[in-house]
Amino acid sequence: MLKILHREEAMVDEERLQSEANRILPYVGELSLIAKATGYDAPEASLQLPYDESIRTQVKGLAKELGKHIEVIVVIGIGGSNLGTMAMYQALRGVQDSLTRNWPKLLFLDTLSGQNLEDISSYLINLQDTTSFAVISISKSGGTAETMANTQALYNKLQIAYGDVSDRFIVVTGDGSKLWNRAKELNMYRLTIPEKVGGRYSIFSAVGLLPLALSGADIDAMHRGAREVIEICTINDIEKNPALYSAIVTYLHAQDGKNIHNSFFFDPRMELTGKWYRQLMGESIGKQYSVFGEELRAGVTPIVSTGSTDLHSMAQLYFGGPRDKITNIVYGPFNDVRLQGDEFSGLVQDLPGKTFNDVMSAILGGTMEAYTKNKMPFLAIELEDYTEASLSGYLQFRMCEMMCLAQLFDVNAFDQPNVEDYKSETRRLLRNIE
Ligand code: PA5
Repeated sequence: MLKILHREEAMVDEERLQSEANRILPYVGELSLIAKATGYDAPEASLQLPYDESIRTQVKGLAKELGKHIEVIVVIGIGGSNLGTMAMYQALRGVQDSLTRNWPKLLFLDTLSGQNLEDISSYLINLQDTTSFAVISISKSGGTAETMANTQALYNKLQIAYGDVSDRFIVVTGDGSKLWNRAKELNMYRLTIPEKVGGRYSIFSAVGLLPLALSGADIDAMHRGAREVIEICTINDIEKNPALYSAIVTYLHAQDGKNIHNSFFFDPRMELTGKWYRQLMGESIGKQYSVFGEELRAGVTPIVSTGSTDLHSMAQLYFGGPRDKITNIVYGPFNDVRLQGDEFSGLVQDLPGKTFNDVMSAILGGTMEAYTKNKMPFLAIELEDYTEASLSGYLQFRMCEMMCLAQLFDVNAFDQPNVEDYKSETRRLLRNIE
């Protein structure tokens, strides 16, 4: 279970904290009821996913049908349809997964890149065996241009090489979408996403569970980790509820002009989790209008940093530049590699004989000290480990936090009306191309 430490370093006034908490405590009570309900009726219905055993059963059944010989799974999807899976996969496997012999592997196609398509399709064709791969095409709406284009292009190439490959394709989409109907005609496997569960809140539906289960991740542990966090993130008490606390800290600093939110992860495997959070915060809070129809232009800009890498690139800006950021320093246990010999470590005072844990703990401690000395607000969030349960707990904590944050800003956490602007222009331009 994650812990939020260093509360005094958040630098918020207790009275304001309590007053904002009182304002949204009734909403937190609603979240608790929604999580315990079934039927996926409320906008916050994603809270019901970790309690839904039927999704896990369906996913496991399908994984069994697809067979044990799968080497690679291609995930086609974009935004909410792939960011959660990418985040979880990278956090579990690490950034050097392509060098390891851990199989099966996940490969991703999101934006249109001829090079990515060529590399992935050639790899699948070289396997010379359709049972060695599966392709999952994920789109809630079933009509996203990039996802349909990638699915079409890969389907074509594989059909040419192998003949009919429909039984290696699985579609995850909204029930009755155009994609659902087409997949049905082609006899492809199909799984649904509950209507009220939007892309950026969908990691614990088939969207995330299917590819991750096929890659060997423990999806029971994922749901368990998320459930444990929902239990604490729906408590009506700011002292015990980390999502409520973190949301109010972010909100109060944004009100005071610190409206850049820096997720500072002290492990490179968390970088894509930062990208997932960018979408969660960007699309949930960035709104022109409030739920009451007033023009607000609300938003907190999420950025991602990796410790210690970005201390060598961004620290000058963070410490010397404008005081416009609230930082969340997130860390877990460090690796215990011990430095033997002193050919190179001897060039740095006190380095010989130390472990990676010693060095990274010192850098982490030093960074927090520097934030404190410079009176720069931060929350320190400690992860117990990097297992499926803990990582899922982290993602669930962030989703609960975002629901509370939207409530504080009086914006709708679940829509993205302005994204439509570029989509309709794109459709118009596509129409004009012969
Ligand atoms: O959060 C969102 O709604 C978006 O990021 C979508 O997930 C993204 O545009 C992909 O949409 P779809 O799943 O319908 O293909």
